[in-house]
Amino acid sequence: MYNKQAIGVFDSGVGGLTVLKHIHQLLPYESLIYVADSAFMPYGCKPDAVVQERCLKIASFLAEQDCKAIVVACNTATAAAVHGLRDSYAMPVIGMEPGVKPAVARTGSGVVGILATSGTASSDKFMQLKKRYAEHAELLVQPCPGLVEEIEKGDFTTQRLHSLLALYLKPLMEKNADTLVLGCTHYPFILPMIREIVGGSVAIIDTGDAIARELQRQLRKRDLLTDGESQESVRFWSSRVDSTEALSRLWGEQVIVTHLDI
Ligand code: DGL
Repeated sequence: MYNKQAIGVFDSGVGGLTVLKHIHQLLPYESLIYVADSAFMPYGCKPDAVVQERCLKIASFLAEQDCKAIVVACNTATAAAVHGLRDSYAMPVIGMEPGVKPAVARTGSGVVGILATSGTASSDKFMQLKKRYAEHAELLVQPCPGLVEEIEKGDFTTQRLHSLLALYLKPLMEKNADTLVLGCTHYPFILPMIREIVGGSVAIIDTGDAIARELQRQLRKRDLLTDGESQESVRFWSSRVDSTEALSRLWGEQVIVTHLDI
């Protein structure tokens, strides 16, 4: 039995594209629907209740599109809303969390730096994650207000972006962090600039590929994968009216973006 229903993937904006790319690579025959909530980004500085409401609205749209699974391609939204989504929907809901576990396994200096949004950094879910691994390494958490907004502008070479990043990375490097966790799906877009600032010897952990594999596992377990004969498609929606240029550029080809008025 093959299942041709789409997989719904969403984020507060363009960040989830860094996860969508891994999903598309691993599961090339699956139909994908991507929702960028760019009119309401950033989530990272909003109260949980607001993020939860946005997530429920987006999930309801994805359910209307008859999706077979939802990927919350946003650490902040996962921390605030994944339990509520799982309570509301029977389909698999895959969430994200900063890659603390692989970072702790990887560090040689015993110091791990974690870049995240303020929302993720202060969430209960993240506190628990930190507690689980605090014995094994020193975990330095750096909230990064303003970074998502800069990344959403789509120019990853600006002086403003560089100054913000340098400000956030400096304390981590000064404390000898040799492993850095990208705890927000927007951050892989600025990996070259991060690399330039921290140098070549720091390991940088992104969990986009792990999420794609977890999605594959969940779909396989429930017999929900499609077959190789399917006609794949990736469809894009955004709560902002003018997202076509940014999503096309970051996805790497011209795409049609439909306005999602929710
Ligand atoms: N991509 C989101 C994340 O992974 C960014 C959240 C935001 O909009 O602040 O946390």
